[in-house]
Amino acid sequence: MEQITLTRPDDWHIHLRDGAYLKRTVEDASRYFGRVLAMPNLFPPITSGSLADNYRKKILSYSRTGFEPLFALYLTEETTPHSVNETKENYDFVPAYKLYPSGVTTNSEFGIKSIENMYPVFDAIQENDLVLCIHGEVTNPEVDVYDRESYFIDKYLKKIVQTFPSMRIVLEHITTEEAVNFIKESNDKVAATITAHHLLYDRNKLLAGTLNPLYYCLPILKRNTHQKALIEAAISGNKSFFLGTDSAPHPRQEKEKICGCAAGCYTSHAGIELYAEVFDSQNAMSRLEGFSSHFGADFYRFPRNRDTITMERRDWIVDQKIDFGGDELTPIKAGETLNWKIESGENSTAREYQLE
Ligand code: NCD
Ligand code: ZN
Repeated sequence: MEQITLTRPDDWHIHLRDGAYLKRTVEDASRYFGRVLAMPNLFPPITSGSLADNYRKKILSYSRTGFEPLFALYLTEETTPHSVNETKENYDFVPAYKLYPSGVTTNSEFGIKSIENMYPVFDAIQENDLVLCIHGEVTNPEVDVYDRESYFIDKYLKKIVQTFPSMRIVLEHITTEEAVNFIKESNDKVAATITAHHLLYDRNKLLAGTLNPLYYCLPILKRNTHQKALIEAAISGNKSFFLGTDSAPHPRQEKEKICGCAAGCYTSHAGIELYAEVFDSQNAMSRLEGFSSHFGADFYRFPRNRDTITMERRDWIVDQKIDFGGDELTPIKAGETLNWKIESGENSTAREYQLE
């Protein structure tokens, strides 16, 4: 029997949602992941340390022991350098801020309209040695949806990196060869997360034959040359590429609308197993641990997890649908066979935290 044991992995980009959906997302994410960086695009968004603190308590009330939720605060045009200083001083579970260009994705309308106006805030992020996570796409209607990431890199990101050379930046959920090259050419202050779905699929999955909303996510799936560049980056052993699932659930009625399909793919039901499919297909299982369990922790300056999970090569079939707080959710690979299954290393089901 083929097995692999890995340092417990962390997920450096996840959407845990809120309300009735939180129980499911947290149960799935906390089964095997150690740390997760929870994204703040709730409604209303998580813009301050105290909002993150409330959200954290709710998350912990559903999570297993050993799971550590961290937060990226939502940058708005009201964020001040002073509030960044306060965050650093008071909230050690907030290692990052998240920049959403306004209108770029789900619940991003409170995001940034003028990136240059945020430079004083970036300065404070740099001074406080926090991380700036970026959804790196533009929203200009004249820029083709497939070019929005590379355009953002050229038009904005290069300048941000030049102006703030000591700021740690994560370009989130990269999807293009241009992004891979940009990260490779940058110093070790600039890194990127890569999702499982962008490694598994190209845009044919979304568009060829019939239109399939399950695969609609942002940034949108690109052509297979880009997918290949992402796979090469993920398995390369380069420490600037690490795991961020961008697991972003939407109930079926929001995904399968005739018009207005919500962007996002749910992958937390099989977070690490989906990456294993990709690494195994490239004969690169020995590189999975660095990508999933070491490089992100090193970049965020957290200690690597000390415990492990063990996976076995064994076929299993993903549920066709998942109960999602009373709604239905279709996960990625629904009804399909995966080749790797976690055998041991579940976090303890004991809960450390009870909501008052
Ligand atoms: C995410 C969501 O639904 O919150 N959607 C997505 O397609 N990835 C937001 C995001 O990360 O862009
Ligand atoms: Zn996301």
